[in-house]
Amino acid sequence: MSNNENSKVALVTGSSTGIGFETCLALARSGFVTCATLRDKKKSGNLEKIARNENLQIKVFDMDVDKDNSVYDTIEKIITEFGKINVLVNNAGYGLFGALEDFSMDEIKNQFETNVFGVIRVIRGVLPTMRQQKSGIIINISSLSGLAGIPTQSAYCATKFAVEGLSEALSFELEPFGIKLILIEPGVINTEFVKDLIVPPNKYEIDKSGALVNPSYNNKKRHSLSPYSNTVDKFLSFYYTAMSHAPHPRVVANEIIRAIASSSSRENGSTPLRSTVGNDSKEYSKLKKGLSDRDFHELLKKNLLK
Ligand SMILES: NC(=O)c1ccc[n+]([C@@H]2O[C@H](COP(=O)([O-])OP(=O)(O)OC[C@H]3O[C@@H](n4cnc5c(N)ncnc54)[C@H](OP(=O)(O)O)[C@@H]3O)[C@@H](O)[C@H]2O)c1
Repeated sequence: MSNNENSKVALVTGSSTGIGFETCLALARSGFVTCATLRDKKKSGNLEKIARNENLQIKVFDMDVDKDNSVYDTIEKIITEFGKINVLVNNAGYGLFGALEDFSMDEIKNQFETNVFGVIRVIRGVLPTMRQQKSGIIINISSLSGLAGIPTQSAYCATKFAVEGLSEALSFELEPFGIKLILIEPGVINTEFVKDLIVPPNKYEIDKSGALVNPSYNNKKRHSLSPYSNTVDKFLSFYYTAMSHAPHPRVVANEIIRAIASSSSRENGSTPLRSTVGNDSKEYSKLKKGLSDRDFHELLKKNLLK
């Protein structure tokens, strides 16, 4: 891959599928030298094939955001090769959906390890370089679930709310160094997220087509093991339907490109912190601001737990 000194360098986490995959393509098509990082490099075939066909500047690196060495070694390799990091897209993440009591503490801690500490780890890895550059854009992929508490997502929402608070607070200390921070808040997007979803073990499984299967329904009593199955079943049934009509992840990638362009043309300190993507995210974020907590809670119950 040729290294044009003037090209900007972007690092994306979780690039194997979905939003990360599309964001790598969109960044490279916009002229970025794109460092696509994956925890399993064997999954890079499709991305590399498109990059070859379109002659895109995409280079694949290993990165498991749960692991210090994996994150810091890769960032060092990127700096050694390209000398800079202009944009970081913190995208890697997964969903732990279900009733809080149905999860083990380890499952909940793992959810925080990837969705929160993973984000913090990678930010800490790029900051020394961005501070020296006196510039940089950090994009954190949050969610509608970072704006509103959604049924059965207590663990996942807790991680995305954490990313929201982290980003709001961090923007103050980064501003003097010309480093901008942007939260992207998608609603439901049609990605592998649904297949990677962790629902309470022994209660729910996702089959190969991505459909929800409750193995305990196969027995004659059709008895679920979870005392919360009524709420969880209702929400998951809404969610799988919503997912089947959800937008393609390229809408998020396009919004990321738009946000980077808009932020690059603005004065330091005047970049909007948040950007919602998808009709559901836009609508619910407005409703959350406009309604009382009780009315918003009742609305979510009516819409999501039918
Ligand atoms: N899809 C939605 O409805 C939606 C809505 C709002 C926000 N989001 C957020 O968008 C982001 C991307 O999700 P997606 O929808 O594109 O789902 P996806 O297709 O499942 O992609 C998730 C990516 O994260 C990677 N990943 C997970 N754990 C990782 C780790 N420890 N280290 C490095 N990579 C890791 C996955 O790698 P593997 O292939 O190795 O598993 C995959 O590349 C997540 O932060 C998610 O919370 C998604």
